[in-house]
Amino acid sequence: MSGPRSGAGRPPLVDRFGRVHRDLRISLTDRCSLRCTYCMPAEGVPWLPGPTMLTTDEIVRIARVAVGLGITEIRLTGGEPLLRPDAVEVVRRLAALDGPDGPPEVSLTTNGLRLPALAAPLREAGLARVNVSLDTLRRETFRTLTRRDRLEATLAGIAAADAAGLHPVKLNAVVMRGVNDDEVVDLVRFAVERGYQMRFIEQMPLDPGHTWDRRAMVTQAEILERLRAAFTLTEVPGRGSAPAELWHVDGGPATVGVIASVTAPFCGACDRVRLTADGQLRACLFARAETDLRSLVREGADDAALEAAFRACLAAKKAGHDIDDPAFLQPDRPMSAIGG
Ligand code: 5AD
Ligand code: SF4
Repeated sequence: MSGPRSGAGRPPLVDRFGRVHRDLRISLTDRCSLRCTYCMPAEGVPWLPGPTMLTTDEIVRIARVAVGLGITEIRLTGGEPLLRPDAVEVVRRLAALDGPDGPPEVSLTTNGLRLPALAAPLREAGLARVNVSLDTLRRETFRTLTRRDRLEATLAGIAAADAAGLHPVKLNAVVMRGVNDDEVVDLVRFAVERGYQMRFIEQMPLDPGHTWDRRAMVTQAEILERLRAAFTLTEVPGRGSAPAELWHVDGGPATVGVIASVTAPFCGACDRVRLTADGQLRACLFARAETDLRSLVREGADDAALEAAFRACLAAKKAGHDIDDPAFLQPDRPMSAIGG
């Protein structure tokens, strides 16, 4: 059964549309070791200034309040979260939090490059699982797409996550026309052979060059059509608040997912709220408003004031992202400074 479970006191984080928020995404840094075209410019990234970055104590403080308000899942994002020098320690402290629903499940979205060194320590610190970005299996495509020649290192990171028991290993690919749209079948084969779960993502208008074009984007329908030429897909029921819609591949147990943020938005079931590395709470990836938790924390706000700020942020949450609205405006921050 779903529904508010909190036995101990505080009402959960509900917005005007009755959406109960259970998932907090925390960006640990806006820095990254890659420069994916859909996320970052090649050069001249306007980095967040160091003093504005939350300290680890500040992150844990805010997360503790959130877990007390019914957050049960914490996803660490970036930029590349593993570039934060104390990422393992952050995981350890977050996984040890306790709320009305017990300790949160802590997971991580990463480009994989540091996983050969960190997968085992992360697992030991309490990390539940990882999502690794893998948009292509072709070295040359990887090099142009991420602007770095690191395909082999990414693959080594994925293998390390698997070996460390960070299961299920999920792989994310943003599908782009003329770049990797001809690789969706190969990516699924790669994942299925190794017991990983492949997830395809419709590209969202978050690119720094503002080159995103609704008509050019590769849709869920097109991705499925390409996959059905090679596999039998049967829908997996029971999606809940998950962004990915899942299909069994050739009768299962392997699955493939599509995150159709643009053509089939799942805002109605959204249970996510985001904290940027510089301490701004965002009710949506595409929000234009932010709630400044950093200033509150640094001015000595108590837990009740932080709780009020969480509730105020969600009270202003909009029904959906309106990407299709002609008046849609991209968020002011680059994706790397919001966190996926
Ligand atoms: N559209 C869709 N997904 C994106 N990501 C980053 N930028 C975009 C975008 N414009 C997601 C990718 C990547 C993760 C870090 O964020 O899934 O794997
Ligand atoms: Fe880095 Fe991820 Fe952005 Fe690529 S998508 S530049 S790996 S943060």
